[in-house]
Amino acid sequence: MKKPVRIAVTGATGQIGYALLFRIASGDMLGKDTPVILQLLDLPQSQTAAQGVMMELQDCAFPLLVDMFATHDPEVAFKDADIAILVGARPRSKGMERSDLLQANAEIFAAQGAALNKVASRNVKVLVVGNPANTNAYIAMKSAPDLPAKNFTALMRLDQNRALSQLAEKTGKPVSKIKKLCIWGNHSPTMYTDYRFATVENENVAEIINDQDWYINEYLPKVGKRGSAIIEARGLSSAASAANAIIDQIHDWVIGSDDEWVTMGVPSDGSYGIPEGIVFGFPMTCKNGEYTIIKDLPIDEFSQERINQTLAELKEEKAEISSLL
Ligand code: NAD
Ligand code: LMR
Repeated sequence: MKKPVRIAVTGATGQIGYALLFRIASGDMLGKDTPVILQLLDLPQSQTAAQGVMMELQDCAFPLLVDMFATHDPEVAFKDADIAILVGARPRSKGMERSDLLQANAEIFAAQGAALNKVASRNVKVLVVGNPANTNAYIAMKSAPDLPAKNFTALMRLDQNRALSQLAEKTGKPVSKIKKLCIWGNHSPTMYTDYRFATVENENVAEIINDQDWYINEYLPKVGKRGSAIIEARGLSSAASAANAIIDQIHDWVIGSDDEWVTMGVPSDGSYGIPEGIVFGFPMTCKNGEYTIIKDLPIDEFSQERINQTLAELKEEKAEISSLL
């Protein structure tokens, strides 16, 4: 039996938490051979609910779940954590844009970054989900100067999965056959879904579809505004699909992506002219617990414009929270 992996999850009693914890405990994220310890963080007023969630986890009798606890203290929740999934934050409601959440949520991520810095495993892998996810990941990273900056990431797999499903529908091909699709930039409507390199059964998807009007006027906005569409329809922000994307992103980061392209929001290393440190969605592959940004892809004029637009938004967000750091 492998050594149990300590997984801290914040916002554990929220919608995403409820869709996520059971899948982690069942082995969907790290594999059926890896035992896990769940370290749940939520606000003091949510501790009774957290006890209820743990009762349900217990009632599943998951063989891989070797221990769990809930707390409202980040330094307890993050103690020795190997993986920290930072979900807990205020979600957007109808009519709100992600930027409205910036100030409300920034302080949470500064405090949690500092707590991770103090008590987490020195190799902790951090995935920020709470919105605005990229900038919150940046805040947490800057608040944790003793941890590797590259280990702070933002959830962008949901965008990739959404983009993939829409392409599968358009081409009539199964999602599993579509490769090399990527998202650049911010998890917000400015994200740039880039299908120039995407293939299906070794044919170029853009050439098969051959409809630039559909791409620009339907596909890009549909993927970019999918979060709002779900809030409109459900009255609540996406939860099960977000949890699923968390499972996918951590799975591939830890276990590997088998040379497939995946998108994660990661601190830029300067690739593609993105200033170092900005947490930006890039195409990458993952192997042995490390990710590698795919370099030197050609960037045409349209792509550069879109990348500039999403980068400008991230720079604005960064400027807005700079007083906090
Ligand atoms: P929710 O309101 O159902 O749950 C949030 C939970 O976080 C609550 O239990 C709340 O008590 C807790 N919480 C609040 N502040 C906390 C803190 N300081 N420490 C610990 N816990 C705290 O919300 P949800 O639907 O689960 O969404 C959570 C976040 O995820 C939101 O910010 C939402 O916008 C974001 N989200 C991101 C993506 C993405 O792709 N990046 C997708 C969906 C949702
Ligand atoms: C999403 O993309 O579904 C989430 O980020 C929720 C939101 O506020 O859009």
